[in-house]
Amino acid sequence: MTTGVQVLDHPLVQHKLSIMRKKETSTSKFRGLLHEIGMLIGYEVTRDLPVTSVRIETPLAEMDAPMIDGKKLVFISVLRAGNGLVDGMLQVVPSARVGHVGLYRDHETLQAVEYYFKVPTDLEDRDVIVTDPMLATGNSAIAALDRIAALKPKRLKYACLLAAPEGVAALQGAHPDVPIYTAAIDSHLNEKGYIVPGLGDAGDRIYGTR
Ligand code: URA
Repeated sequence: MTTGVQVLDHPLVQHKLSIMRKKETSTSKFRGLLHEIGMLIGYEVTRDLPVTSVRIETPLAEMDAPMIDGKKLVFISVLRAGNGLVDGMLQVVPSARVGHVGLYRDHETLQAVEYYFKVPTDLEDRDVIVTDPMLATGNSAIAALDRIAALKPKRLKYACLLAAPEGVAALQGAHPDVPIYTAAIDSHLNEKGYIVPGLGDAGDRIYGTR
């Protein structure tokens, strides 16, 4: 398995991300672009799925054709912004199973507190991709991955749209075996925990709540 960080430097991804970053980009445009990037991340994050050869018949001849092997993938969305990326990823892997993890940040301790957890029961046999657009401090990502790693998925990956160097370091410290996929690694976190230059609050921009 790939370890470390993979930055999706494809021009299509970078172009779409730049439009998302602009403060004047509308909610509907932002949501649509996240969906499109979700498809491209879904494409890249599944690149190393094992395939098996299956005998099929085309209108002209029989052949041994490659098909994805093993049980269906699982995408796990870290609520609420993770849903925006998972929607796009499902477009390219429509048969994937979907789980949800809800976490909020306790204002006093700044730790992630879980309020919702629902994932498929048989993760031992499945590849799992945990998704949240913004890898900022890494606290939510680590809390989600701690919980999911305890269920012993066959393989575990983390996919986001934007990462801060601080979040990457924290996540790699806590889960060194989990590869990270991101469209960009930005400069730093500000004092409020926002990624700079970033794109603002991903949840608010997806759902128009601010
Ligand atoms: N979450 C967001 O939505 N944006 C950030 O910049 C950091 C965390």
